[in-house]
Amino acid sequence: MVSIEEILKGRHTGKEVELRGWIYRTRTVGGKAFVVLRDATGIIQATIGRDAVSPEAFAAAQKALIESAVVVHGKVVADKRAPGGYEVRADDFKVVHFAEKYPIQEDQSEEFLLDVRHLWVRSQRMTTIFRIRHTAFAAVHEYFRSHGFWEVSPPMITPAGSEGGATLFQVDYFGRKAFLTQSWQLYAEALVLAMEKIYYIGPSFRAEKSRTTRHLTEYWHAEMEQAWVGMDEVIKHAEGVISHACQRVAEERPYDILAVGRTPEFLKTVKPPFKHLTYDEALKLLKAKGIDFEWGKDLRTLEERALTEGKTKPIVITHYPRVSQAFYKARDPKHPDLVLGFDVIAGDGVGEIVGGSERETDLETIKKALADQGEDPKTYEWYLDSRRYGSVQHAGFGMGMERLIQWICKLEHIRDAVPFPRTPARFSP
Ligand code: 4AD
Ligand code: MG
Repeated sequence: MVSIEEILKGRHTGKEVELRGWIYRTRTVGGKAFVVLRDATGIIQATIGRDAVSPEAFAAAQKALIESAVVVHGKVVADKRAPGGYEVRADDFKVVHFAEKYPIQEDQSEEFLLDVRHLWVRSQRMTTIFRIRHTAFAAVHEYFRSHGFWEVSPPMITPAGSEGGATLFQVDYFGRKAFLTQSWQLYAEALVLAMEKIYYIGPSFRAEKSRTTRHLTEYWHAEMEQAWVGMDEVIKHAEGVISHACQRVAEERPYDILAVGRTPEFLKTVKPPFKHLTYDEALKLLKAKGIDFEWGKDLRTLEERALTEGKTKPIVITHYPRVSQAFYKARDPKHPDLVLGFDVIAGDGVGEIVGGSERETDLETIKKALADQGEDPKTYEWYLDSRRYGSVQHAGFGMGMERLIQWICKLEHIRDAVPFPRTPARFSP
């Protein structure tokens, strides 16, 4: 038993192998059936000659439709004409399951492919992205663990949000109101006073009606929080973890990266430091590009595109205006109308992949910020204990894993960065 990827790497050339997989493409010409097989790692052509296998095996190879499950036994030969440069000359061919006529054919609409997502996940495009996603997730775990962070798990069902009521999903909790988590924020600030350097990757939920190419209602969030440090220290980790994910994907999945339209060389250049700009500097730069922008507003797609234009590495924007920022972000002691908050913005239309900040440590300031935002400080009483018992400077960030993958893979739409996307219009299959 071998994987197709190992054969394509030339590890079995001239040897006998057994392959298990599904029929990706098939045609019979004269006395030969050419069956292109797929497994979790790639595709390869198997040639089944009428004279090389039993009559039953040849009949089965001729009859089996796309997505039939099969077992092929044969010899690996290098052949330039075959896709990938190798093929298997079969001496035995068994059909484990004869598939019905497969509903997916070429040139089908995006909507149809989303309706049959449970089958579309078998496509080369999706499996290639899944392998890159797998490597990116591993790289994030590897980065934080190797830098002394503890993996700690927050709850997903919560009594209150941290990122504003407008994007909270409400759930009926035995007759009481509960919400799906938007971020581990409040729990991170409790846990960081226990474990000092913490991270996790888990789902976050945003009831965000915006139909854009970069919003999901359910996404995977990589978040970190660190005690005894300020904003600059965690920006270094944001740059570090993004870079590490790019390096790992470039090293481990070079063919997959080429298949989605990026090069490993491009990813290898993504190393710290990234370019840093304050919000005010960004506004000046935009003005110079003819884009007038009102101070205090959040950057939109248009501005993010203009700022990352011509840049291969993501950029970091710091010191946002305090207006409309989450209550937990620390005031800039030098400019009380700013926060010690930052975003990492990537190019290719992906935009913000990381959002983070130093956290406000002063109890009264947080209480006031909560009240200003119309929140009931009573709901946050337990959270405010983090400012009552041994409060220390701390900072952290959250990174959207699908945004990172969208950028790494240069995907037009974020929905392809996840197997079963959840968007305002769709939560099935
Ligand atoms: O900027 P956000 O809202 O920040 C927070 O939630 C902080 N509490 C994180 C922290 O400091 N621990 O979200 C963080 C990141 C964004 O930069 C973006 O990459 C991603 O989460 N994100 C989304 N990804 C996909 N679809 C959405 N609707 C997203 N909303 C945020
Ligand atoms: Mg943000």
